[in-house]
Amino acid sequence: MAPRLAIEGLSVGYGRRRIIEDLTLPAISGGGVTALIGPNAAGKTTLLRALAGLVPARGSIRLDDTELTGLSVAGHARHVTYMPQALPQRVALTVFEATLSALMSARDETLSTAGAQARAFATLERLGIADLALRGLDELSGGQRQLASLAQSIVREPTVLLLDEPTSALDIHHQMRVMQLVEELARERSIIVIIVLHDIAQAARYARRIVVLERGAVAADGPPGAAITPETLARVYRVEARVERCSQGFLQVIVDRAV
Ligand SMILES: Nc1ncnc2c1ncn2[C@@H]1O[C@H](COP(=O)(O)OP(=O)(O)O)[C@@H](O)[C@H]1O
Ligand SMILES: [Mg+2]
Repeated sequence: MAPRLAIEGLSVGYGRRRIIEDLTLPAISGGGVTALIGPNAAGKTTLLRALAGLVPARGSIRLDDTELTGLSVAGHARHVTYMPQALPQRVALTVFEATLSALMSARDETLSTAGAQARAFATLERLGIADLALRGLDELSGGQRQLASLAQSIVREPTVLLLDEPTSALDIHHQMRVMQLVEELARERSIIVIIVLHDIAQAARYARRIVVLERGAVAADGPPGAAITPETLARVYRVEARVERCSQGFLQVIVDRAV
């Protein structure tokens, strides 16, 4: 059965400053992509970091029968993988070594060294970066580094995959490639994927569900057609926009002006 992630009464902040207050979401289920969108500083990164156990949170985050809020960072890491927005990779590792060590740190004891190496390489191939395997992380372009970081996240085969703007440095080919791959992984492995995106049309195309966050609260939540409306865009993003379907039935957002 597909895993389910339930968030109830979640509050997260930094010091005294509360960013997310009493957030509750209908369970997010595996098998498809959930996009998290919203204006700058809405709290998207803070929410993902709370789900990954990287910032203290009050309330409940339940993955099926496991309460995640009580777990250690390592306990979280067994279920949840988080790919951060900023990539601090000044490490002297090759892309292959970094992918392999991400896999090893997930401590899957049933995996042999040869098995781990094969899985790491297969992940690079699937992302189309096998040719970068022996390059140092510190000699990659921003986009290449983003793909290498994504490889480190997906190689661990988590139940919950959290991706914070994973396509922000990528050209359009690689953006589509990453979105297609992430959507395939969600279906194939029946995992939960929550992805922060700025491109609303891309979110609408690949996500089954879109959660719109505004000042730490849920402004809209549902299938793309329900969550993305001119009213929501006006209220949350302060733009006058049209939401129309293209010849293939996908939602397009045409922004006419800022208001
Ligand atoms: N480490 C931090 N310490 C204090 N405040 C932070 C920290 N990280 C983020 N914030 C604040 O929390 C709010 C939400 O930030 P963030 O979750 O990064 O938003 P988003 O990802 O939606 O752009 C912002 O006002 C930001 O200034
Ligand atoms: Mg962010």
